[in-house]
Amino acid sequence: MRAKIIGTGSYVPEKILTNYDLEKMVDTTDEWIRTRTGMVERRIASKKEAASDLAIIAAKRALKDAGVKAKDIDLILLATATPDMLFPSTACIVQAALGIKGSGAFDISAACTGFIYALSITEQYIKSRKYKTILLITSELLTRYIDWTDRNTCVLFGDGAAAMVIQSTNDRKSGIISTSIHADGSYADSLFVQGGGSRCVVSHESVDKKLHFVKMRGNETFKMAVKAMTASAQEALSYNGLSVNDIDLLIPHQANIRIINAVSKKIGLPSEKVYVNIEKYGNTSAVSIPLALDEAVKGGRVSKGDLVLMVAFGGGLTWGAALIRW
Ligand code: COA
Repeated sequence: MRAKIIGTGSYVPEKILTNYDLEKMVDTTDEWIRTRTGMVERRIASKKEAASDLAIIAAKRALKDAGVKAKDIDLILLATATPDMLFPSTACIVQAALGIKGSGAFDISAACTGFIYALSITEQYIKSRKYKTILLITSELLTRYIDWTDRNTCVLFGDGAAAMVIQSTNDRKSGIISTSIHADGSYADSLFVQGGGSRCVVSHESVDKKLHFVKMRGNETFKMAVKAMTASAQEALSYNGLSVNDIDLLIPHQANIRIINAVSKKIGLPSEKVYVNIEKYGNTSAVSIPLALDEAVKGGRVSKGDLVLMVAFGGGLTWGAALIRW
């Protein structure tokens, strides 16, 4: 029994914020952002949009692509660091919007590694035969938690959502081959948003101190990302007795082009086999890998039988990988 992705969908908000727009907001340049991050533009959700709004569109697209009706979904998993509200979960809000009742629905919190964590949970539920059809969604609006006067963080993030329908299959030739998830909570203060949590509820003081914004140790996060994503990629290959030459496409988390290049170089993969769309969307956190996968599949970069390796890294710190045969 394997879990197989049978349909994908994604959605990005209409509004585009370019590097040139950012030049007018903070002391930065298009050249700096392009060369230091690989980013050129990113999408920003409208004031009316929250995580569930983006998620619902992506989910409907994935269901259509899979040819599956919402009523046939056994479980909804939604990875996000930017839910509609503290509770109920955004997964429950999406479930209601899809017009279904009774299926389990919950959110997963693993920051930018959220997709890999969600995929790992999905794989276990399907392999154990508990569920047959799972709707996995990621949706992030990190730009809501950005200090637009802080050039160290405001250039990096973008909004979006992506979804996929994953179903059990007896086909041994395709599907999820393996997933792995890791964390090191001693680095929790490398990348975080404090304000709004139970340790620091929203107050005039917390807002004055800008505690509701993303705080990041950029340099430390960069180094850890390269190390952890390289280790995860190598772990996925050795666990399955495969070599880097077997990989048809690497879809890494899109946080920084220099992180992506360093990881590809360390594992020995040529750049033609690495999917990059960071220039269009920036870092969309848990959304980046499934958004890239949807684009890669629809754009013909992934064909039946291809071996696709996905690696992520994020706040927590968390990291992990998934290997799939398309
Ligand atoms: N425009 C111009 N200059 C900027 C800038 C910007 N947008 N952001 C930072 N700088 C400046 C810094 O202030 C610093 O100036 P100083 O030397 O005068 O203090 C200088 O650039 C170098 O900063 P540094 O942090 O060393 O740059 P860097 O090469 O490490 O790049 C990041 C910064 C944030 C792009 C990089 O560290 C990074 O991508 N880290 C990982 C972040 C990430 O991916 N987080 C999410 C993980 S899921």
